[in-house]
Amino acid sequence: MKQNKYDDPEFFAKYSEMRRSIGGLDDAQEWHAFRALLPDLHHKRLLDLGCGFGWHCRYARQQQARSVVGVDLSEKMLARAAATTDDPGIEYRHSAIEDIDFDENEFDVVISSLALHYVESFHLVCQKIYRCLGAGGTLVFSVEHPIFTALAAQQWCCGPDGERLHWPVDVYQEEGPRRARWLTGDVLKYHRTVATYVNTMIETDFRISRLSEPVPTPEMLVEQPGLKDDCRRPTFLLIAAVKSAT
Ligand SMILES: C[S@@+](CC[C@H](N)C(=O)[O-])C[C@H]1O[C@@H](n2cnc3c(N)ncnc32)[C@H](O)[C@@H]1O
Repeated sequence: MKQNKYDDPEFFAKYSEMRRSIGGLDDAQEWHAFRALLPDLHHKRLLDLGCGFGWHCRYARQQQARSVVGVDLSEKMLARAAATTDDPGIEYRHSAIEDIDFDENEFDVVISSLALHYVESFHLVCQKIYRCLGAGGTLVFSVEHPIFTALAAQQWCCGPDGERLHWPVDVYQEEGPRRARWLTGDVLKYHRTVATYVNTMIETDFRISRLSEPVPTPEMLVEQPGLKDDCRRPTFLLIAAVKSAT
């Protein structure tokens, strides 16, 4: 049973209040690094897995992508995405990422921003992405960093006065579900090691071109000094890869 937390009214309301949900990509801490991994989108057919409010879909069309398909499990997220554009070049589809069934060679670029840590089998999804990408096509995705997902609590260890001492990492090698405490609490995420992400892609025959563990930009740190602790441990893991051209 796939978790559809974003359709829970209380969770949706909290998520909608987040800075990135209001300000969009420029207020997303890792966007500068994600954008740097994207290929030229001009005339490309793009698939966005776990598209949420559709920020990346709309960006792709601004970059002259030929067509964009956004997939998400949450009807509430898709309704907001659909209400934000009347662009006929974007199609939103209600589906779990795990259930996608596109034709071979249907896309030139597949992206996924902060959704694949909700998927139990990265192996299965990797194979489906590989199949629907054309030769030479690109996959770019971000997930919560495995150092971040290892412990379900996802909290700093604090001193007696509440000062953040360090980020605890434990049970890193034990892959599987985590009931994370986030927003309204109890969100099911899947922890995998960095090696599993990378090796699954290699075994699927992707050629990995870049990994990124971004920190907030200096401008963001001026605007939001509270983000400085996100320079102390990786929050996001971004991977870009290419399907071989033969
Ligand atoms: C953190 S939000 C990210 C949204 C968007 N990609 C962004 O970066 O702004 C995660 C999104 O993934 C979707 N999601 C989670 N699990 C999913 C699944 N198994 N299949 C499809 N979508 C899923 C959620 O509904 C939510 O819209």
